[in-house]
Amino acid sequence: MLIEVDGLEKAYGQGAERQPVLRGVSLGLEPGASLAVTGESGSGKSTLLHLIGLLDTPDAGEIRLKGETVTGLDDAGRALRRRHQVGLVFQQFNLVPSLTVEGNLALQARLAGQHDAEWIDTLADRLGLAAFRQRYPEQLSGGQQQRVAVGRALAARPALLLADEPTGNLDEETSDQVLDLMLELCADAGAGLIMATHSRIAADRLSRRVHLTGGRLS
Ligand SMILES: Nc1ncnc2c1ncn2[C@@H]1O[C@H](COP(=O)(O)OP(=O)(O)OP(=O)(O)O)[C@@H](O)[C@H]1O
Ligand SMILES: [Mg+2]
Repeated sequence: MLIEVDGLEKAYGQGAERQPVLRGVSLGLEPGASLAVTGESGSGKSTLLHLIGLLDTPDAGEIRLKGETVTGLDDAGRALRRRHQVGLVFQQFNLVPSLTVEGNLALQARLAGQHDAEWIDTLADRLGLAAFRQRYPEQLSGGQQQRVAVGRALAARPALLLADEPTGNLDEETSDQVLDLMLELCADAGAGLIMATHSRIAADRLSRRVHLTGGRLS
């Protein structure tokens, strides 16, 4: 198994304000497989991706990444796994404004000590970004920025790609293209994909779908 999630629980707030969001979430993903997570706004999709992406820690439950229990690691331990194993695509792109497209693509891979110029070229070409390599994010359309975000997430060849509403801001055609590319590049890299989405159509393109409701998966 690439990722195993077991009885994950997460609540936000303190005391009477405490609000449980995840109440025992379990799932598994094999290498190269893809999983869509659907659920109403506020159901906890982003919370789940943040936990799996090691950006946050659960209150209870366990996450194993390639057989290693990663819940319980300290910040540095989590950051290390995140850097080397996980690619993240956020809805808000989070590109570095002071870096060109090329710089954004290379950054993550450099941080992971896995810079590979040929792979960056491949990603830029496949994502249709070859002509924009020297441009800054503010000089790109939303769809182009999103493709940079996908490329950046894949630049360090992560074992796991986590995408939070990666096509939420895009028109239907562009969102289809971005999804196609994500699936293709994940398949090529043998990476697993977990994607939170509101789109039924997008969810149906992945190998499996789970629905988050009342803090549990169904
Ligand atoms: N840092 C936080 N502090 C307090 N509450 C939070 C925090 N992050 C999320 N929440 C709450 O947890 C619940 C789940 O939020 P989450 O962002 O995971 O939902 P989501 O399914 O991703 O929603 P959407 O589809 O709108 O993106 C919401 O009620 C939200 O208000
Ligand atoms: Mg969300």
